[in-house]
Amino acid sequence: MVSQAVTAPLTRAATFLIVSAVSHPTAIPTIRATLSSVSDITKNISIRHPDGRLSCTVGIGSSIWSRLTSLPQPKELHPFQEIRGAKHTAVSTSGDILFHIRADRRDLCFEFERQLMQRLGNAVTVDDETVGFRYFDARDLLGFVDGTANPVDNEATEAAIVTQEDEPSSAGGSYVVVQKYLHDMKGWQALQTETQEAIIGRTKLDNVELDDAPPESQQSHKSLATIEMQGSEHAIVRDNMPFGSPGRSEFGTYFIGYARNLWVMEKMLERMFVGEPPGMHDRILDYSKAVLGATFFAPSDLESL
Ligand code: HEM
Repeated sequence: MVSQAVTAPLTRAATFLIVSAVSHPTAIPTIRATLSSVSDITKNISIRHPDGRLSCTVGIGSSIWSRLTSLPQPKELHPFQEIRGAKHTAVSTSGDILFHIRADRRDLCFEFERQLMQRLGNAVTVDDETVGFRYFDARDLLGFVDGTANPVDNEATEAAIVTQEDEPSSAGGSYVVVQKYLHDMKGWQALQTETQEAIIGRTKLDNVELDDAPPESQQSHKSLATIEMQGSEHAIVRDNMPFGSPGRSEFGTYFIGYARNLWVMEKMLERMFVGEPPGMHDRILDYSKAVLGATFFAPSDLESL
């Protein structure tokens, strides 16, 4: 069984495209045919620039799962559940299918999306399209290196891919959560660097991990996003990308996480938005507003849906 390119290494460019099927009898067959041609489109473009590391991962939402596939629905798959903290909300937004297009060159992502949209034609409407880019040494727009604690190689597979033992009918697939955040750059830049570092849990310039704060006190982002159960840590694979437009004063982070168990990402979000202890939410949220939230499952085989 071959999984999609879920654990592909960080690239220089990415496009995050979320679409929904229109209600027309030809829509579902068109989408199904397009999904089965994703690997052909990738090959046709990659051959022109083999070193561009082009890949596309497709996530299917619970809203369309049973109409689009004959596979049993993955047991944890459900729509993104809004999380309301005392101060901040993780919103839930619409979308049937996610395309996570990655490459080291923007033109490859563009060309892939162009050919994809041509095949999808009138079968879909676009819910969101976000173009991300690598910012210097993989920094987010808050100025911190993002992605350091990601598991690699076998550990990435272990964190992100559902196994036969977990769920035979979904084995080789991966749960995907996406969120789009818009940053209050003025507010963030007004903070002392030491305060920013305490919020993130790492030093800014050289990316060194800080110790966890004592229990019952304000935790950093990295501590709140660390899930430990019965002595073992549950990791996820992230591939966040900055996006934005200085001319429109838009500065954002597109969060994407892949996990073998959806509950792990939901627990992270609960700890961030509600806080641990409750009330002490992730201070990153005081400067980052969630404007999109959606959950999908990336099945192993797109050709026999
Ligand atoms: C760690 C940024 C949202 C999960 C980090 C780090 C940064 C960062 C700079 C430290 C370096 C690293 O290990 O990558 C951001 C930004 C976000 C965001 C700017 C959005 C505004 C999220 C969300 C989740 C998440 C929504 C999960 C649902 C994690 C995890 C770690 C991490 C698991 C690693 C913790 C560890 O050290 O083990 N993030 N993040 N992040 N983040 Fe986020």
